Amino acid sequence: MQTYARGGHLLQETNLNQVVDNVLLMLSEQFRTKWGVKVATELARDLKPAVCDPNQMTQVFINLLTNARDALQPHGGEVQLKTWNMPELAAVAVAISDTGTGILESELDTIFEPFYTTKAKGEGTGLGLFVAAEIVREHKGWIRAQNNTSRGATFTVMLPC
Ligand SMILES: Nc1ncnc2c1ncn2[C@@H]1O[C@H](COP(=O)(O)OP(=O)(O)OP(=O)(O)O)[C@@H](O)[C@H]1O
Ligand SMILES: [Mg+2]
Repeated sequence: MQTYARGGHLLQETNLNQVVDNVLLMLSEQFRTKWGVKVATELARDLKPAVCDPNQMTQVFINLLTNARDALQPHGGEVQLKTWNMPELAAVAVAISDTGTGILESELDTIFEPFYTTKAKGEGTGLGLFVAAEIVREHKGWIRAQNNTSRGATFTVMLPC
């Protein structure tokens, strides 16, 4: 409580591969059985530690994976989660790609605004990406959305290491 009241975070050197693994431990089973979604990972073995609050980054990855899951409905499919070092930027990157609906080019910025949702009433508040972007911004990182050349979308998060 005090940490949040001060507006601070529990910044620590964090292996984002571990954060990702924990998130997948929480979500994988339900994604597979309830939503027909498999998450494939490609995690850099030598990933540099990021300076971040692991709990907040957990929230970011949950929000992005949940969106990827939803974009793959009603049939399900595969989500690719990749981590890698960006030595030229002294940063690490995490990308989450799906082969779902993709995003209208005109909405690629709008989706990060609070309460923007295309989901049915009661199914989405439109806060997931807003919260994710706020968290990443507070860590002095960046997040961006792109459409894939084939289909679906990729969200990339970069954090300083
Ligand atoms: N991977 C994706 N593929 C396609 N569209 C996406 C993807 N991720 C987000 N979007 C679009 O961006 C909108 C906003 O996403 P956001 O996570 O902020 O809210 P939400 O998922 O609608 O609701 P919630 O608050 O429950 O997360 C979504 O409604 C959807 O239209
Ligand atoms: Mg969402």
